[in-house]
Amino acid sequence: MDLGRIVVAVDGTSGSGKSSTCRGVAERLGLRYLDTGAMFRAVTWWMLEHDVDVHDADAVSARVDHLVLASGTDPRDPTIEVDGQDVSVQIRTDEVTRSVSPVSTVPAVRARLLDLQRQIIAPPGQPSGGIVVEGRDIGSVVWPQAEVKVYVTADPAARAARRAREEGGSDVGATERVLRERDRIDSGRATAPLVQADGAVHLDTTSYTLDEVVSLLVGLVEQTLDAP
Ligand code: DC
Repeated sequence: MDLGRIVVAVDGTSGSGKSSTCRGVAERLGLRYLDTGAMFRAVTWWMLEHDVDVHDADAVSARVDHLVLASGTDPRDPTIEVDGQDVSVQIRTDEVTRSVSPVSTVPAVRARLLDLQRQIIAPPGQPSGGIVVEGRDIGSVVWPQAEVKVYVTADPAARAARRAREEGGSDVGATERVLRERDRIDSGRATAPLVQADGAVHLDTTSYTLDEVVSLLVGLVEQTLDAP
């Protein structure tokens, strides 16, 4: 297997350190990086901007084809644009974070993003792969043929403490409740729920540092490349 063709699919719960890990792995190996969560967040941001009720699945479905999304895949500077506007900062607000789970349960949203995600993994007319893709359903639905599949989890209390630290000392208990609720919605939805995909390696990051997790994953990719 050639590194330039490999697809590394990383799924897992919110706040388990997936993004930092995936960016670190992509940088170390010179691969592209795709944050599919950012795509769901960008759709959610657009719906809120256009006063669409995010709990009204019909309204969300009716509008999801009206926006143009573009994801940049440089792990040092991953970008996300909606209708030509860079919304990398706007998609991280509490309002978007609260609203993204219901939007991501809408089948029309998932179908639209699935198409886009596959086009980024395998651009028409170009060699496919050479990418680390993170999300909830990459190894199970988006790219089940990925050469490396990882399912990342961490203890909810540890995730909440980490996130509260990143957010400058916000309430750990409240953060843990939000994370658990997102896990519940992500794992319980009918279309493409968060699951450990067939063949995925389970990595519990609770007691590892970011560098350790990056090294573990780089090791997994190298093992796959060396396999006969
Ligand atoms: O990874 P994140 O927290 O930025 O993801 C935001 C939301 O998007 C998350 O609550 C679930 C949803 N999501 C999804 O349903 N499928 C994906 N492949 C990625 C994210």
